[in-house]
Amino acid sequence: KSAKDFIVLANCLFDMGYHTINWNLGCPHPQVTKKMRGSGLLPHTERIQAFLDEVVPAMKGKLSIKTRLGQKNSEDLLRLAPILNQYPLEEVIIHPRTGLQMYEGNVDLEGFETCLSILRHPVVYNGDIRSAGDFRALSGRFENVDRWMIGRWSLVNPFLPGVIKTGLNKEDNRVERLKHFHDALYEQYAAVLSGPSHLLNRMKAQWNYFSLSFRDCGKTVKKIRKAGSPGHYLEVVSRFFETEAVWEEEKND
Ligand SMILES: Cc1cc2nc3c(=O)[nH]c(=O)nc-3n(C[C@H](O)[C@H](O)[C@H](O)COP(=O)(O)O)c2cc1C
Repeated sequence: KSAKDFIVLANCLFDMGYHTINWNLGCPHPQVTKKMRGSGLLPHTERIQAFLDEVVPAMKGKLSIKTRLGQKNSEDLLRLAPILNQYPLEEVIIHPRTGLQMYEGNVDLEGFETCLSILRHPVVYNGDIRSAGDFRALSGRFENVDRWMIGRWSLVNPFLPGVIKTGLNKEDNRVERLKHFHDALYEQYAAVLSGPSHLLNRMKAQWNYFSLSFRDCGKTVKKIRKAGSPGHYLEVVSRFFETEAVWEEEKND
């Protein structure tokens, strides 16, 4: 929420080659919102306006905004949208829930539609795209939207973006390809994270999503959660991929 700090960081990132910086007004976690950050800032229209007045002209690069419909209710973004129109934003990404909802309950598609009709910036839809069917329904309803963001469900089913883009949904070797994806992720995390417990925690969290794609893998997930070392973790995961993993076709398609 500090414009001065944001400008310093955004301009450093620009020099490193990152030419669009996203301001996240969507984070709903209480430890963030109670400091008037993330979605906790959404009720404070005048503060957001003052922030943009200072930041936008001082940034070397472009600014995009990620937002929810509001903190406690959907009124916040309705109030804010005409103000956002006054700034040259790259895009506005909307996750149409309130901050209080966290990640639960229904997305508010009517609220999204109303904000879409007010905003003059390119709008990205984000939230609960779990399948190609969900995408078809949403893109049919919001024909003017041509930017889509998938979060959790691309971790549950990393094939989903490809299925949506190509329309093809019957690839073979999904378990094998997911194992390759898992191994690449593990390798990359091992290269950048510091120490085995950091790595283990990151990979264990990943299974909250992966596990939803496989049939009856509750016992394996318990073993993964209990793994006390990377060696033990890799042993459990390898055994799972080699002998037990069954891709949940119906849930994912
Ligand atoms: C564990 C977790 C961490 C997240 N971290 C971020 C983040 O750092 N920045 C961000 O813009 N959104 C973050 N999000 C929100 C997602 O980008 C997305 O808005 C939200 O999950 C709704 O989309 P989905 O239903 O496709 O997942 C996070 C979501 C989750 C569940």
